[in-house]
Amino acid sequence: MRARPVRLGPVEPYEHATQQPERRPWVVGVSGASGTPYAAAVLRGLLAAGEDVDLVVSRASRLTLLDETGIAFRDAHWREDLRTWLAMGADGKPQTFEPDVSRVRHWAAGDLAAGPSSGSYPVKGMLIVPASTACVAGVALGLSKDLLQRAASVTLKERRPLVVAVRETPLSGQTLKQLVALDEAGAIVLPASPAFYAGATHIQDLVDFVAGRVLDAAGVPHRFYRRWKGELGGGRSPEGG
Ligand SMILES: Cc1cc2nc3c(=O)[nH]c(=O)nc-3n(C[C@H](O)[C@H](O)[C@H](O)COP(=O)(O)O)c2cc1C
Repeated sequence: MRARPVRLGPVEPYEHATQQPERRPWVVGVSGASGTPYAAAVLRGLLAAGEDVDLVVSRASRLTLLDETGIAFRDAHWREDLRTWLAMGADGKPQTFEPDVSRVRHWAAGDLAAGPSSGSYPVKGMLIVPASTACVAGVALGLSKDLLQRAASVTLKERRPLVVAVRETPLSGQTLKQLVALDEAGAIVLPASPAFYAGATHIQDLVDFVAGRVLDAAGVPHRFYRRWKGELGGGRSPEGG
């Protein structure tokens, strides 16, 4: 008598899947507003906190990145380009922290079949840093013109945290209305607007303040800036008040 073949039904892949801790990254969208050092700082902070990251870099943001840092971000060489980008501070000087970019998964901005384009793909939420006014408009209207905007719309429809670090000044009435629409849809509108009470002495301190506020909004621990301790002048003392 012939042995009965072993059946590999749908149960086996499921059991296998439950043995693996599920990867649940933050989606980081970098759009074409000025402020690519903010994105680099947020990425460093997420990786330092041991978070996984799914990265989407809009086509326009490659121009601002090139303009602000001299770095060309290429889909085919994204790991190498990301390492170079994250190693550079806002002043062009090297950063001491070497992030583990193996925790980053990159998706091309035009890839509308990418993981973050579906609500069933597991993510913690999305941080758009910096957010251009074009991106604000697109997300407020649900345009989904590229993966970044689609992922943001998915984040809203799934009621997951969405942080929008808008960078523009002055703001038109139209953008202000779109920001209100985003707020009403559940997003955290977080203007890339550094404060000066935390004792900033270098340009990177101002960048890190904004990055720290983005991570605060996402509930990710960090040591980017000195927190207010209820004492005036605390930021100017060596211990931070
Ligand atoms: C050097 C440079 C700086 C820019 N800075 C800003 C900015 O601070 N805020 C903004 O809303 N748009 C800015 N833009 C314009 C955006 O890149 C443009 O609106 C683009 O369409 C945004 O597309 P995206 O949202 O798909 O990335 C800048 C463009 C360039 C080339």
